[in-house]
Amino acid sequence: MSSLQNKIADRTATVGVIGLGYVGLPLSQHFTDAGFDVVGFDVDEERVSRLRVGDSYVDDVDDDTLTETVARGFRPTADPAKLAGCDAFVLAVPTGVESGTPDMGAVRQATRTVAEYAPDRDVLFVCSSTVYPGAADEVIRPALENSGRIPGDDILVSVVPERLNPGGEYDFEEIPLVVGADSVRERETAQALFDSVVAETVPVGETITAESAKMIENTYRMVNIAFANQFAEFAENAGVDAWEAIDAAGTKPFGFQKFTPGPGVGGHCIPVDPQYLTWRAKQTGTGLSLVDNAIEVNEAVPSRVFGQIKTALSAHGTDLDDASVVVLGMSYKPNVGDIRNSPALDICELLINAGASIHPVDPHVDEAVIVDERYEPASAIDRGTLRSADIALFLVNHDKFDTDKIAEDSNLIFDAQNAVPEYNDTPVVRLGDGNSEVSSSSLKSPVSRR
Ligand SMILES: NC(=O)c1ccc[n+]([C@@H]2O[C@H](COP(=O)([O-])OP(=O)(O)OC[C@H]3O[C@@H](n4cnc5c(N)ncnc54)[C@H](O)[C@@H]3O)[C@@H](O)[C@H]2O)c1
Repeated sequence: MSSLQNKIADRTATVGVIGLGYVGLPLSQHFTDAGFDVVGFDVDEERVSRLRVGDSYVDDVDDDTLTETVARGFRPTADPAKLAGCDAFVLAVPTGVESGTPDMGAVRQATRTVAEYAPDRDVLFVCSSTVYPGAADEVIRPALENSGRIPGDDILVSVVPERLNPGGEYDFEEIPLVVGADSVRERETAQALFDSVVAETVPVGETITAESAKMIENTYRMVNIAFANQFAEFAENAGVDAWEAIDAAGTKPFGFQKFTPGPGVGGHCIPVDPQYLTWRAKQTGTGLSLVDNAIEVNEAVPSRVFGQIKTALSAHGTDLDDASVVVLGMSYKPNVGDIRNSPALDICELLINAGASIHPVDPHVDEAVIVDERYEPASAIDRGTLRSADIALFLVNHDKFDTDKIAEDSNLIFDAQNAVPEYNDTPVVRLGDGNSEVSSSSLKSPVSRR
């Protein structure tokens, strides 16, 4: 075992986490829990100040857990010089796309920061940000070399794509992590570090393989969601209940994974990562038209939903420019406050442009993340507002929403999640339900539909 591996094994290594967001903060917590001394560096001073006083902005790390983590030695800082004592560096900075091209700006900058402050001894560098296949070769290693380090020698490079699923059913420790590196020494050192926080690591022979595995995972999901969304449109036209049909298909115990329709895709992964793959594919002369097409299908969903809302209102004698609309859920998925690329934002924009007055509600969205005050959500449903609104849009199935009460208090519902029960005469238009149209039931009390 190398001395660096020994330090990792006996937990005397100090871990530097670069970027303290949805990925970096839970990682810092888990490395601290595993017994490491952890320095967390972020360029955002306000975020760092909040972390120091136990004020978390990340759903998966509550304030008490953060306070405990800081008490156990986790040191959030906006001063890169504090990274100087670290033995391992884990990048969790944002990546994105600009006009279809990967934006590796933060990865490049953070890599330079590591190269500048890493001590003059063998250290481990791990990229856990999502990057395109080939980014370690083309962006990370050159940036390290330009700063005088020797990748594979005095700085061991590995790609360990993060797989966490905020608000999801799996605990961090349960999700295996792929560890890609170009040499055995680099791979084993990175595995030693991540074996301390997850039950299983999966070694692969090169960094580009790990980068590609991440692309496959998220592209697979995006393409299948596109199919569910397109199937929902077909179902509405063909008089099929898409939800029941998909549930039925989901009973097949092999060869099928269930994906459901919704108001569009959002977040920082599904709408973004497949574009790294298509960008790379075009560079290599390979067409990935299936992926391009799926991206287009998903991008068109919010405006299709907007059209359905307009039709539903009109069927009830209300013009959109006169309508009062309660929007239930602003985040991109249930039980999280992340609004990045959320389709709810697109739908709100279309409604506002059409003259509707909107009343967003989201119990999870931290008001600090809302950049446009028109979308600022109330944290709880106001019954009076719901009762007087022309329509309630059920866009996100947060556990905190009481769907029975929503059904009871609304005048008209557009349900994009197949979650709101039928109640008395409250008409419900369900996305993907070819049988619902603008239906009303004669039930006397709330019942769960399925
Ligand atoms: N959010 C997820 O569920 C998820 C899951 C898997 C992978 N990822 C990937 O992980 C990476 C991080 O995503 P995130 O959701 O945590 O982003 P985030 O925006 O929540 O957090 C990133 C943090 O990095 C900081 N930062 C930006 N530039 C920096 C720099 N040069 N040096 C130090 N800090 C810097 C930002 O201030 C921010 O606090 C992305 O590549 C993303 O695609 C995210």
